[in-house]
Amino acid sequence: MNFSHKSVMLREVLDALDVKPDGIYLDCTLGGGGHAKAIANQLDGRGMIVGLDQDEDAIDAATKNLSGLTCEIKIAHGNFSELDRLLDATLTTNHQPLTTKLDGVLFDLGVSSYQIDTASRGFSYMKDSPLDMRMDRQKNFTARDVINRYDEDALIKIFREYGEERFSKRIAAAICKARKISPIETTGELVKLIEQTVPRTKNGGHPAKRIFQAIRIEVNDELKILEGAIKKAVDRLKPGGRIAIITFHSLEDRIVKETFRTLAQGCICPKNFPVCVCNHKPEIKILGKAKTPTAEEINFNSRASSAKLRVAEKIGGRESEKIFQRESKEEFCENKT
Ligand SMILES: C[S@@+](CC[C@H](N)C(=O)[O-])C[C@H]1O[C@@H](n2cnc3c(N)ncnc32)[C@H](O)[C@@H]1O
Repeated sequence: MNFSHKSVMLREVLDALDVKPDGIYLDCTLGGGGHAKAIANQLDGRGMIVGLDQDEDAIDAATKNLSGLTCEIKIAHGNFSELDRLLDATLTTNHQPLTTKLDGVLFDLGVSSYQIDTASRGFSYMKDSPLDMRMDRQKNFTARDVINRYDEDALIKIFREYGEERFSKRIAAAICKARKISPIETTGELVKLIEQTVPRTKNGGHPAKRIFQAIRIEVNDELKILEGAIKKAVDRLKPGGRIAIITFHSLEDRIVKETFRTLAQGCICPKNFPVCVCNHKPEIKILGKAKTPTAEEINFNSRASSAKLRVAEKIGGRESEKIFQRESKEEFCENKT
């Protein structure tokens, strides 16, 4: 296996996490271990990296890439939607659950270049292969199931919601018509069908691009699990610990932005309540606006071009209490005027 992937916004991620030599860092999307290795290189013997990935090829590649480093490395196969269970299973020693909190968490979302470029995985509309697109090949549900078993309305819905595709209806109708004759088995057959169904625009990219994105998101349930995973990760951070998230399309970025906003919010009572009754306290502070890669990085790695990095810091009990009291007071004064 030749696992090739260029880690995106590496320098920015290290700055964002403000890596401490003795810190414990969780990489929820280990891939080939590029980011994890860069973090590990800043740790000493007291530091630790825990890496998760749902793709066994990534686990193998990262295990090799991260061998022989000074700090402790623990790697687990699984979905970050279960990061609580995976962290506990990985960090528990002698049946004693590890109560230590994390110094930093990284999510570098989506697929790796290795996954896209390996034809047999079925992620690419540029390579002909069986319709698969599973990141976790222990699961049974594939792109073939989506394309051949979803009814027309369900196809339209995912093409619209996850692909933001203008011609969703037309493409779904063409798929349903074609599969009545024989099942659609390969990425090549699907691409041909899409090419025959929708016009190719000059600057709009390949017409199959958005449909492949939609199917991939559906197969791997990428968006539905994100908010919950971010909240779990923030919960495991120590005060002052950082969370850094790289997204590659606006659907993911919106979820990250909104989840950060909710977690950074104090009182969430309706505006017409005279005093706060929700007792909601902010858990994080958002560190600046989303960052994007430099032109130099995009030149070197065009796949980085859509990346956005958002960063937040966990706030401690007292700090959170102060913000809560300030916001409740402001809310009260606003309501009085
Ligand atoms: C962009 S790559 C990460 C590359 C890595 N940061 C590096 O520098 O080598 C994303 C990885 O996250 C994994 N992944 C995506 N969603 C996941 C999830 N829900 N749970 C676990 N791993 C996931 C994919 O299998 C893929 O290997």
